[in-house]
Formats: sequence, C-alpha cells, structure tokens
Amino acid sequence: MEEILRVLLVASAFNSLTQRVHTELRRRGHTVGVELALGDDLLRARVARFRPELILAPMLTTAIPEDIWTEYTVLIVHPGPMGDRGPSSLDWAISTGAREWGVTVLQAVEEMDAGPIWASVPFPVASCGKSELYRNEVSDAAVAAVLLAVQRFADGDAEPEPLDYDRPDVRGRLRPYHTQENRRIDWSADDTETVLRKLRAADSQPGVLDELFGREYFVHGGHREDRLRGTPGAVIATRDGAICRATVDGAVWLPQLRRRRTPGGPKTFKQPAVDALRADLADDVPEVPVTPAEASVRDTWSELRYHEQGSVGYLEFAFAGGAMSTAQCRRLLAAYRQACARPIRALVLGPDRDFFSNGIHLNVIEAADDPAEESWRNINAMNDLVEAILTTTDILVISALAGNAAAGGVMLALAADEVWCRESVVLNPHYRLMGLYGSEYWTYSLPRRVGTAEAARLTREPLPVGAAAAGEIGLVDRVLPGGTQRFRDQVRRDAAALADSPELADRLTAKKRQREADESVKPLARYRAEELAQMRRNFFDEGEPYHGLRRNFVYNVAPPATPAYLLG
Ligand code: COA
Repeated sequence: MEEILRVLLVASAFNSLTQRVHTELRRRGHTVGVELALGDDLLRARVARFRPELILAPMLTTAIPEDIWTEYTVLIVHPGPMGDRGPSSLDWAISTGAREWGVTVLQAVEEMDAGPIWASVPFPVASCGKSELYRNEVSDAAVAAVLLAVQRFADGDAEPEPLDYDRPDVRGRLRPYHTQENRRIDWSADDTETVLRKLRAADSQPGVLDELFGREYFVHGGHREDRLRGTPGAVIATRDGAICRATVDGAVWLPQLRRRRTPGGPKTFKQPAVDALRADLADDVPEVPVTPAEASVRDTWSELRYHEQGSVGYLEFAFAGGAMSTAQCRRLLAAYRQACARPIRALVLGPDRDFFSNGIHLNVIEAADDPAEESWRNINAMNDLVEAILTTTDILVISALAGNAAAGGVMLALAADEVWCRESVVLNPHYRLMGLYGSEYWTYSLPRRVGTAEAARLTREPLPVGAAAAGEIGLVDRVLPGGTQRFRDQVRRDAAALADSPELADRLTAKKRQREADESVKPLARYRAEELAQMRRNFFDEGEPYHGLRRNFVYNVAPPATPAYLLG
C-alpha cells in the first residue's frame, strides 16, 4: 500500500487541474493542503505551518523560492514532453501542429523546467482550443504523471532522472514566450487553417490581438464556417452573439472578444463578440441562424447540436467557459422542447467534451446596465430550463458529463433522471464562492440524490468533488472510465440499451408517479419561490457580497491570501 503523505499543493489559482489533483490525492488518503502562490513570504509561512512531506505545483506561473526547494522536494507539473521548457508549451504544441505532446513532472531546481524528471506521460493533441485541451487531454496525462511521481516519491526507492538532451526520448527543447507577434493574423494572407491554429493556440488566454472597426480587441475562440464567404477580413455574419469573419479561402466564427485595455483605462473582460462590438457592427451584417439539427451535419459554429440514433436523441450544448446567459438558456430550452417533441424514448444532454455547465453567465451579467436585474433574468431562464427537464415524464433524460460542472451547472445536470460522468470530471456543487444561496431547484434535486445532511455539507464546504466520490455519495449515478471519445462511445451504447430495454415503459410510469407524488408533497413552484426569495436578497440587497465577488471573478482579481477553505 502507498504511504500516506502530507502534500502541499502550490498553485497560481485553484484551477481545474489543481482541483483534480486535490480530489485524486485526497481520495488516495493523502492529507492535502492548498496554497495559492501570492508571495514568497506567505508561502514560506504556510510551508512552516503545514510541514509538508512533499510540495507539488500542478499549475504555477511563478518560481518557488530557493530556500523552499532546497529543504523540501518540490515537484512541478510542466505541460510539455521531456526536455520541453518555457512558459508557452501548449501554445507551441498547437501552433506548430504537434500531434502528440506530453506532461512532465520535474523537480524544482534553480533553472526553470530543467530539474530531474519524476514522470512523463504523453497525450494526443486534439484539434481544439488550448484551454479545452488543458482541461481534457492535458489534465488526464497530468494526473497520471502526478500519481506516478507521488508513488515513486512515497516508495522512496526511485530516483528522478536528470534531464539529458542526448537521450533519444528527450525530444523537447527550450522555447521562448509565445508573443502576440507570433499570434498575429494577417487576414489578407492567412488561410483558414492558419487562422484557426493561431486562434486555438491563444484560447482562452491570452487571445489573439486583432483589429475590428478601427479598435483593438483580443479574439477568443475560433471555429470553421463551411458556407459563408466574403472579402478577407470582413465581418460577414452574426449568430447567437458570435461574428463570422471571412478569410482568404473561407470564413471563421469568433465567439468572444475582449476590448484591449487603453493605458490607464479600466480593465476589460471577455464578452460575446456582438456585445463587445455593439454600435460598431453595421446593421447590414446579417444574423445567420442554424438549427441544432442542421448544425450536427454541418461544419459550422453552433452552441447547440441535435441528432438522433435509433430511439435516442442527443442534445449537445457547448457554451464557452460553461457559462449560460439568459439568451443561451432560452435557446437551449427551445431546443430541449423541440427534442422532447420528437418520437424518441431517451434524450442525452451535454457537450461532447469539456464543461457541462458552470451556471449563469457572470461576464454577461457584469456587462449589463443593471447587473442585479440581469442576474435575476438569468437565474429565471436557468430555472425555466431546469423545470422543463424535471417535469419531463414521457422520455428518459440522461445528463452525460464529459467535463466539469459547477454551481447551477451541477444542478442543471441533476435535473435529469440519470447523471453519467467521465471519471476525470470535477464537480463543484455549491454557490458559496459567489455569495449566492443558489437556485435551479437544488433544494429539491440535491437532497433527493444525496440526502439532507450530505446536501448541506456539499453546499457549505466549497470544495471540489471528484467523479468517484460523487458516485459513492449518489450525486451521480455512473462513472465511466477513459477519455472523451471512449466516454462518448459508451454513453451511446448504454443510452441505446436503456431506451430499447423492455423495462423502460415501467420506468417512465414510475417516474411520472414519483413526480406527481413529489408535487403533492411540495410543488416545484414552491421550491423555486423559496430559492428565488433568497436569490433576490443576494442580487438586490445592500451589503450582499455577490456583486463584489462576481466582479473579482470576472476581472480575475487574485485574493489577498489563500482562502480558509483551502487550508486543509
Ligand atoms: N460565468 C462566466 N464565465 C465563467 C463562468 C461563469 N459562470 N464559469 C467559468 N467561466 C469562465 C472563466 O472565467 C474562465 O474564463 P477564461 O478562460 O477567460 O479564463 C473559463 O470559463 C474557465 O473557467 P476557469 O475558472 O478558468 O476554470 P476552472 O476549471 O479553473 O474553474 C470553476 C471552474 C467553475 C470552478 C470556476 O470557473 C467558477 O467558480 N465559476 C463560477 C461558477 C459560479 O459561481 N456560477 C454562478 C452561479 S450559478
């Protein structure tokens, strides 16, 4: 059995990978603390208090001070293959078209990324944006490498291998910072492939600095368009908040923009592209919609796709950052209703990869003239969607989580009859970090699944829950192994088997009865009214922390110290 260790995670933010490592190590019995890298002295004090046997940095953009790495073993997770060094590894992987990349766990030494190697795990580079790659393939490889390194360290009989560029398996090299100069798009010369590669390498951070209507913006995200064409560089269409820009041999969709900050001017944040451009966008740029069904057989950008296989419908939604604005909720609800009207027996909800949902759209709310009112509209639109799912009794609804979910996004998933999730998924079933009571009928669906005491614990302690733990407490019904492709294949097989099973009719009858029984005990409308009464206070009352917390989140303001809930 592996020795139990005291592990201190040091990270620039408690991001998805750090959360995943946190859940995986705790699950193996290790005592895990987290320290955000907010200054060397704060870190020294924490190390002295926590007395770790091992320090691990899953995502660190600064250096660990020498006095710490000389006294403790400090392992750094580097998102590059052996020998790769520098601050822009994934940007280079994508921009150079690498098919395979790696994650290496190396020991901290004087020179950045040059320490002895504890573990290295390869992964295939999917054709997607950098942060999507990071949350999926990179994260899976990183966790495998971390677990290997921790085990080697705990066993005490393995020595890390020095970095040796003469070895044939050391193929990486030191690469410079990937500047905006490397990223710049020449709309009059770059073909669609090149434009997409540049956009993907910069997504979601820092974006590609570009010019639109005489102003500078960072462009975030990028998808191919199969039909629309125009003068290279021209904005030729809009769709659901995104703009379509022509290239020399096609066109690309750009979903989000962030205005470049002017010197001394206010900080800026990402917005749906159409919102960011506002008055600059000419009236004659047409809105070119696509139906979810059409989108599933075309190579174009759409947040919604719908297709059927046998008696199962698949409604895929993919919202940038998992955030769902009022408009996005309403569009998804319309697509959900359409799907339910089809002659199907089961409906699978969820994107192919990446975030399932992270709840209401905090950036769109921040940009609104009246953020409290927009928060109210957004939560009501979420609730309408969740209510539609909860009251569907003639179809079996399955939430399939290939990626993470948080806050109202978790509760959205729980509205379905079954929740299946990939083993790598991390759930944050709480609203506390945003200072919200929460809605999305969580007071109905969460205790129904995990019991009242567990529901109270989950919403009180704002810690991430790994898929395996979520399965054990009944938060999710099934945990499926493997990468996103394997997950998708398994979901297809199992959903088809369920939909075609002779028991389905009985199950749907039982579901209808249960809903009626629940409704007679306490109507859904009452759950909603009670939750919204609390949310109204959160949104509209003086002195509530929500607006400040939201602003800090949207503007990415670092906390002054590591929050208490992470101290372990
Ligand atoms: N609204 C707007 N943007 C959101 C969002 C939301 N609800 N949730 C996530 N995002 C954005 C992030 O700002 C980030 O944008 P970036 O790529 O430009 O940096 C991106 O989605 C990915 O999120 P990030 O925080 O980097 O991912 P993570 O995996 O490290 O952390 C969460 C995920 C969900 C824990 C964290 O994003 C979070 O706390 N989100 C807010 C959840 C919430 O309170 N929702 C509202 C209540 S229902």
